[in-house]
Amino acid sequence: MPMPHRALITAGGRGTRLRPLTHTNNKHLIPIANKPMIHFALEAVAAAGIREAGIVINPDTGEEIRRALGDGAAWGLQLTYVMQEAPLGLAHVVRCAESFLKQEPFVFYLGDNVVVGGIRQFLERFQARGDQCHLVLARVKDPQRFGVAEIAGDRVASVVEKPKMPKSQFAVTGIYVYDSPIFEAVHAIVPSARGELEISDAHQYLLDRGYRVGFSEITGWWKDTGKPEDLLEANRVALEQLLDGTGPVVQGSVDEESDVAGKVLVEAGARILASQVRGPAIIGADAVIERSYVGPFTAIGARCHLRDSELEYSILFEDTAILEADVRIERSLLGREVIIRRCSGRPKTQKFILGDQSIVELC
Ligand code: DAU
Repeated sequence: MPMPHRALITAGGRGTRLRPLTHTNNKHLIPIANKPMIHFALEAVAAAGIREAGIVINPDTGEEIRRALGDGAAWGLQLTYVMQEAPLGLAHVVRCAESFLKQEPFVFYLGDNVVVGGIRQFLERFQARGDQCHLVLARVKDPQRFGVAEIAGDRVASVVEKPKMPKSQFAVTGIYVYDSPIFEAVHAIVPSARGELEISDAHQYLLDRGYRVGFSEITGWWKDTGKPEDLLEANRVALEQLLDGTGPVVQGSVDEESDVAGKVLVEAGARILASQVRGPAIIGADAVIERSYVGPFTAIGARCHLRDSELEYSILFEDTAILEADVRIERSLLGREVIIRRCSGRPKTQKFILGDQSIVELC
């Protein structure tokens, strides 16, 4: 069987669990270590030797995705945009992309999954085993949030979507490698109780018909970024991977009164003034950090402004300001152009998830 040379990557869906951030941002463009989340998917498929990728978009946010990814040349990929008119399920996504996929083997990659360690090994195993469907599994503590696979030897025995009583700890991640029987499956299944054509039902269809469904267990780090805490954790892991060395990389400037330690990237035009920054952290282009503390696992977007404030384990989108906050802000996700300013009579820490253009005044 030939190695797949096409990928299908999702960038549509609803993103409801990440509101309010997804009211104004497509989930796949939420920054992780100052990069739109979907860049991680593009990098992973390109590194696996894929050269053509279909990006599945929806009518509401498709333009935003096209603008962000362009023709794919930045990753050595040739991108084709595939419109899904309504979010009718992941098996429906495959149906929508049939003419792009041409009945040939392909990798299906959910664009809200972040993987560290690459995906090439899964394509190789699919090929070596002669599977017709190869599922990438991960052991999780909360399998009921996922498609769950039951294993028998080196094969998958059953797959159930978000079961109340999971038969194993194995979540099916958002990475699947297929040969042509998947096209038969996505046409044969019917919508689930929630009205979607479920990819798990397509997998169970393949099992019921006796097709070879194999699996790999993910060994590196993997996250389905369904909830705000998942984004913060993905950001933590991406920041840890960001720099090869242990010390800071300063493309902007750090004044003499400041102390920048550990894996910290200060991007071009960013200024650190009388502040402490403890890595892993990234300070985006043209951001200003004044008389402030930035703690580990923090990604600060371009043109943000921190003044007399403390921030740790958080993601700031672009153009956001925290001014004289006087509390330590942690485990927070702040959208674009958010303003948090001046507080008094304060508790010790604060946690925020704020959509674009929010203004918070704590008095
Ligand atoms: O992440 C792994 C899980 O992904 C699997 O364990 C589940 O079996 C699988 O059904 C899926 O579950 P989710 O509930 O996480 O899927 P979600 O609706 O979040 O959509 C995943 C991606 O697909 C995301 O990039 C949005 C996109 N999408 C989703 C649907 C339903 C579309 O582009 N179109 C759609 O119709």
